[in-house]
This record gives sequence, C-alpha cells and structure tokens, in this order.
Amino acid sequence: MVIYQNISLKPYNTFGLEAKAAEFVECNTLEEVQVLCATFNLSERPLLILGGGSNILLTQDFKGMVVKMNLKGIEKVYENEDNVWLKTNSGEIWHDFVIHCVAENLGGVENLSLIPGCIGAAPMQNIGAYGAEIKDTVDEVMAVEINTGKLVKFSNAECEFGYRESVFKQKFKGKYIIVSVTFKLNKNPVINAQYGAISEVLQQKGINNPSIKDISNAVIEIRQSKLPDPKILGNSGSFFKNPEIPLALFQQLKLNYPSMPGYPVNEENIKVPAGWLIEQCGYKGKVIGNTGAHKNQALVLVNYGNASGYEIYRVAMEIQNSVRDKFGVFIIPEVNII
Ligand code: EPU
Repeated sequence: MVIYQNISLKPYNTFGLEAKAAEFVECNTLEEVQVLCATFNLSERPLLILGGGSNILLTQDFKGMVVKMNLKGIEKVYENEDNVWLKTNSGEIWHDFVIHCVAENLGGVENLSLIPGCIGAAPMQNIGAYGAEIKDTVDEVMAVEINTGKLVKFSNAECEFGYRESVFKQKFKGKYIIVSVTFKLNKNPVINAQYGAISEVLQQKGINNPSIKDISNAVIEIRQSKLPDPKILGNSGSFFKNPEIPLALFQQLKLNYPSMPGYPVNEENIKVPAGWLIEQCGYKGKVIGNTGAHKNQALVLVNYGNASGYEIYRVAMEIQNSVRDKFGVFIIPEVNII
C-alpha cells in the first residue's frame, strides 16, 4: 500500500473536475483497509472514501487523504430453493454486478441497471431508480470502523435505509468504510414493470411477458435516451433529491400549476420531481458558462468541458434559489459537495 502525494482526482470523479488530493491511497483488500484504519489516525484528518466518484462535486483541492476502494470479487455465500446470497466487494462496478445477476437469472437488481458507481457506495445512499431501491435486496453490509480497524456487520434494518438515505450518511457519517455488501437475490424473479417508462418500452417492443433481461434492457434504453453518459459529458446523475412537500402546499401550488406532477409518500406528504421544478424555472438545457442543467433531464447538471467544481456549485445554488423563490420549495443536493 503506497501513499501518494498531490494526486489529481480528475480521473476519479465522473464530473471530470480537476482537484488535487494531498494524500491518495488505493486499497485492494480488506486487510489493507483494516491496516490503514489501525495505523493512521484517519479520523483526525479530512478523509474522502472514493468508489466510482459518481456522486461527488469537488469544489476545491482536498487537504486530507483520499482512499480509493478497489476491493474486487463476487462470491456466492449461500443458496436455498428460492434465493441466492451474493457477497460483493465494494470496489466492484455496480452495473457489472447487475449484468452478472441478470446473466444468472437472479432477480432483484435489474431495474437498477446502468446506475454509475461502485458497490460500496450503493447502500450509502440506497440507490434507486425505475421503481426499485437496493434496500429491497440488501441482506447485510460489512464495514470497517475507521477509528479501530474493526470489521462490523450491519443487517438490513441496521442500515436504516430511506429515500437516498442510510445510517452511513446520518449518525455513522465518516465512521465506517463499507467493504462488502451481501445481496439476497431471487431465483424466481418477480418482474417489476410498473414504472411508466418501462411499460412503454416493453409495449413498443411487443414484449408481454418480460424476463429480467428485458427489464434490464428497457432500463438501459431509457437511461441512455435521457441521462448523459459521464464518459462523454461529465455529470453526477441527479444533482438534487426530489423534495417531499406537505399535501396542503402541493394542493395550493396545483391551483397555479395544474400540470405539476406529484407522487404520494404518505398521507401528509407528496414527492415532487425536482426536474420538473427546475424546468419550470427555465433551466432545462440552459448553458451557463461551462455548466447547466441537461437538455433531456433538468435534474442532472453537466460539465461541458472546462467547468470548475465551484462554478457548478454556484449554478446549483442559483437553481436552488430560483426554485425556492418561484415555488417556496427547497431542493437539497443529493450529490456530496466537497
Ligand atoms: N421531469 C420534468 N422535467 C425534467 C425531468 C423530469 O418535468 O427535466 C418530470 C416529469 O414529470 C417526469 C418526472 O419528472 O415524469 C420524473 O422524471 P424521471 O423519471 O426522470 O425521474 P426523476 O424523479 O427525475 C429519479 C431519480 C433518478 C432515477 C429516476 C428514475 C432522484 C433524485 N432521482 O429521477 O436517479 O434514475 O428517478 O427512476 O430520485 C440519480 O439518483 O442519479 C438518478 C438518476
């Protein structure tokens, strides 16, 4: 394990932003993570754990240590008549894991095809798309306690999953490094084609009885048509979370904006697509310097080539203020701003 100094993070973030790390180390095994935690006082310096770098906005050089997680491997740990448990190390690419499951006809993650990033980051923010979230397939998460190097097991319930939330973003923020995730997958997949866009694609193709491969292919097609490929146009997926607003405010806004979409979360709250709010404020496809909201999905901010992280941050705050002024709704970044 070598600790490098003054390393460019440009290849390690999907926005493609230039920023330097004072210290940079790659971990390839669980033992390396444990040694790193036990040897260095990691909690006493700024620490950034990096997977695929697909959910960060680097607004400045990083003055502490960046730990790039490279632990590879997918292992079947248990199997019964109905399910297979796969333990997947945190440095595996999320989409490669999905493809692996689809190829083995193991259901549960096919709706989450093509989400950028690595396995280790997935439970962190309970990744979700097209009617599924990983909380529905995670069995347990193994993580190393940063202060001690101790390996700790978290059951699904202990992860306290919520909408783009988990215990690792809340009370245990900065306390653990996720090293593996065990998924409980279904040998008799239950097809989840409820999401409007999926059923439309299946209908167009004349598929009435979809397999998980059909679902995965449909999701890939939808994502490719809407979401910019970070390899071509730097971005971090959805920049903001979809806000949940009180029913009374939703009904009041509906009077002025009858086309405003909303999905009930519970009896008191409605989730409104932030992309719609941003579009209504005139930002969809608008280029501001080297950045702006994407032309096909206003929720995604992009780097047109030479943006700085701070420039993207400023535009994000401008959009946030504009949505607040027009609708009285506060949208919160989903992306981690460093
Ligand atoms: N909409 C607009 N204009 C836009 C974008 C969206 O009006 O520019 C409205 C439309 O009414 C559309 C609705 O928003 O029907 C929903 O749009 P979409 O299906 O694209 O989903 P989203 O709510 O904007 C969420 C996730 C995405 C995920 C999609 C699909 C969040 C923050 N984002 O976006 O996740 O792929 O659903 O399930 O919850 C990500 O987290 O990086 C991400 C891409």
